[in-house]
Amino acid sequence: MANVRLEEITRQFDNVTAIENISFEVPNGEFWVLVGPSGCGKSTILRTIAGLETATNGNLYIGENLVNDVPARQRDVAMVFQNYALYPHMSVAENLSFGLRMRKADAKTIAERVERVARSLNISHLLDRKPKQLSGGQQQRVALGRAIAREPQVFLLDEPLSNLDAQLRDDTRAELKQLHQRLGITTLYVTHDQIEAMTLGDRIVVLEGGKIQQIGEPQTIYARPANRMVATFLGNPPMNILPATYTNADFHVSGQFLPCPAVLKTSLHPTQEQVFDLGIRPEHLSIVSSPAEKPQVEMAQLTLEVNVVEPLGRETLIRGNLPDSEVLLNVQAAANWRGRPGDRITVQLNLDELFVFDAATGEVLYS
Ligand SMILES: Nc1ncnc2c1ncn2[C@@H]1O[C@H](COP(=O)(O)OP(=O)(O)O)[C@@H](O)[C@H]1O
Ligand SMILES: [Mg+2]
Repeated sequence: MANVRLEEITRQFDNVTAIENISFEVPNGEFWVLVGPSGCGKSTILRTIAGLETATNGNLYIGENLVNDVPARQRDVAMVFQNYALYPHMSVAENLSFGLRMRKADAKTIAERVERVARSLNISHLLDRKPKQLSGGQQQRVALGRAIAREPQVFLLDEPLSNLDAQLRDDTRAELKQLHQRLGITTLYVTHDQIEAMTLGDRIVVLEGGKIQQIGEPQTIYARPANRMVATFLGNPPMNILPATYTNADFHVSGQFLPCPAVLKTSLHPTQEQVFDLGIRPEHLSIVSSPAEKPQVEMAQLTLEVNVVEPLGRETLIRGNLPDSEVLLNVQAAANWRGRPGDRITVQLNLDELFVFDAATGEVLYS
């Protein structure tokens, strides 16, 4: 096992900068998730660590060793790809033991490892089958098992669950987490799925446009996003964003207004008009049955026209817009909420839960 350290890694393809100045260190034994939209550079980072890609700039350490010039096969890392390829002519057992046989492990070690890995992934009953006799989910487990059987210093997993259907993906995700708790192998896991990132990561690295946006524990990133991109990427349904102007000590949003939090007010120019994006998580909005003339101090209210009502069992999701505007808002309501499209409702939030972003840069100014 080993830690993995990236120091200002950049990878350029002709005129495309796939990743830029990427620095972080995964401590030995931790599970880190790289997350971001398609094309943000996740696979390039993983492939650089694996040795399948050469950095244009920067240094990469695995354990104490600088591995910039160490070939992939000598790095003692195992990578599983989204489009994993099993050896079609080999049985499951032979696929699982392939890496060990290449390393000339003895027969007893091979048999023990294959048995243990197969048991941990629930594929013991499939050992004699060929890949084409397996379902997609079973094949994916074999691909994971083949990497695990090698017991590498570092695991690199690139969207390993995205070919599985929803139920199997949830199950395999939980199994992966258990497996990591048991084996404790340093793992870097790439996904564009924010739920996988939140549930699996000891820490999450959020990327966009080849650059790191934020690194932190899942709960911290969710509660304290560094910018609008991170705020809207993590969370489902995502954070609501309301374009607002600030004048005369209030935020104006499509003809309605929200008081500006006192702390923020002191740093804003009192009369000069400025534009912001306000962020509100759907779970922080509550429906007010009889709106007060004047909301309590530190509370804000908004009128919303309901567009769609989605009962989800445990709760009901309301999608609406601010009247006479294109500004959309999602609200998480109680399961027993009864309303219909076209209704006008009042929702309120505590200003403590409000986020204020710089409209131009997306940087968080208040949270
Ligand atoms: N071999 C390559 N040649 C040219 N551009 C590439 C190559 N590999 C990746 N890129 C570009 O680098 C960026 C990041 O790609 P990638 O790391 O695959 O993103 P992700 O895995 O997050 O979807 C993309 O713009 C992609 O088109
Ligand atoms: Mg990718």
